[in-house]
Parts: sequence; C-alpha cells; structure tokens
Amino acid sequence: MRHINIAIDGPAGAGKSTVAKAVAKALNILYLDTGAMYRAVALKAIRQGIDPNDAERVKPMLKTTRISVKNEAGVQHTLLDGEDVSAFIRTQEVSKGASDIGVIPEVRLMLVHEQQRIAAGTDLVMEGRDIGSYVIPDSPCKFFITASSLERAKRRLKQLQESGKDEGRSIERLKQEIESRDYTDAHRAFAPLIQTEDAVLIDTTDMTIDQAVEAVIKRVQKVYSIGGER
Ligand code: DC
Repeated sequence: MRHINIAIDGPAGAGKSTVAKAVAKALNILYLDTGAMYRAVALKAIRQGIDPNDAERVKPMLKTTRISVKNEAGVQHTLLDGEDVSAFIRTQEVSKGASDIGVIPEVRLMLVHEQQRIAAGTDLVMEGRDIGSYVIPDSPCKFFITASSLERAKRRLKQLQESGKDEGRSIERLKQEIESRDYTDAHRAFAPLIQTEDAVLIDTTDMTIDQAVEAVIKRVQKVYSIGGER
C-alpha cells in the first residue's frame, strides 16, 4: 500500500505549521517541517561567516553538511552535522538566510533527496514551499494555506511580543519583511513557491486554526477513505 503523503505549502506565517502539526497529530502520522532543514543549512553558513546568498561559497560547504531530522513525541528535532540545532533556527537572521539559501539549486537537491526518502517510507504531513509542486508531486492530497500579509504580520508581532522578542518592531516593518521573503520564495528560478492546480486553497485570514484543521482533515479522510481515528 502506498503511504499517506499530505503536502502543505504556502507563505510564511499563514498558519501552515500549526495546521500541519494538528493534522499529523489527529491522524497519528509524522509531521515533517522542511523549512527547518533550510534553516539548519542557513545556520551553518551564518556560523561560518558565509553569506547565504553566496552560492560559490555555500556549495563547497554542502559537501561536509549533513541535515537530518528526528521526531520525539510528535516534536521535530533538526540535526545539523549531528547537533540538535532546533533552538537556534528561529531567529529573524536565520529566517532570511533560509529564504536566501533556498534559492541555490544544490541546497534544494540535497534536502529534497532526504525529504523524498522519508516520504517514501512513512505516512506523513510534509510542510514547506515546494512540497506539492516538486518534492511529492504525485501526492493526491495537497493544500495551499495562505493569509493576507497584513494578517500574517499581525500574528507574527503577537508571537514576538508574547516571547518578549519584538525589539520594538512595527507592523509595517514586519509586513515588509514578510513580503520580501514571499518575493524571494515565489520568484526563485528553481522550485519556487507556487499553488499547484490540484492543491486545495485555504485562506486563513478570517478563519480560526480549528476551522482550517477541520477542512484539511475532512479532505484527507475523503481522499484516503479513512475514518476519524487511525
Ligand atoms: O517554513 P519556514 O518559514 O520555516 O521556511 C524558512 C525558509 O526556508 C523559507 O522562507 C524558504 C525556505 N524553504 C524553502 O525554500 N522550501 C521549503 N520547502 C521550505 C522552506
């Protein structure tokens, strides 16, 4: 039997991760956050003083770079050369670095290879930018989750304020950062962020997370002819 491979794509801050995690939990299958893998590669470059935009310096670095993931009690840990870097990859600098480093085809090929290997071996919800279009294009169950950039900036500010890390950033500044990252992700030549024709669009601007999760689960159950609990 083929594994359940659910693809969730969309821009930053649209609620993708929250929805993907909740769906994986409800169906008792693996959640794979591919953005964390790009973030880990960016972290290595930044630590080595390499500009993530500098393909000529990033490419040789890849030869000695190993990115892997492990899942403990439903939580993904992302390993960079064996070190669990999960706690270091959520900074603004790494967010931008991941978007920039993801433009380099060699980075993508290395990570996509690992993502496809995992998807071939297990039931999962995979979340990213190119999952339905490039990583698992044969998936019968794809979603594109989005929200307006203003709404995404508001959510991001709330998150930053709650963790005391907003550093006085304004909504306008966050909206600009988000739009700039969207632009890089959607305009790169190789495997850009796109909504494929067969993906179900979910706009969370005026939706609660629970509503989005319910919509996804209903569709998954229909596509895979499965009941509530697995
Ligand atoms: O999902 P995220 O915000 O953690 O991803 C960080 C960056 O990584 C994103 O701006 C672009 C890149 N990325 C990518 O190019 N392809 C993916 N499948 C996932 C993330």
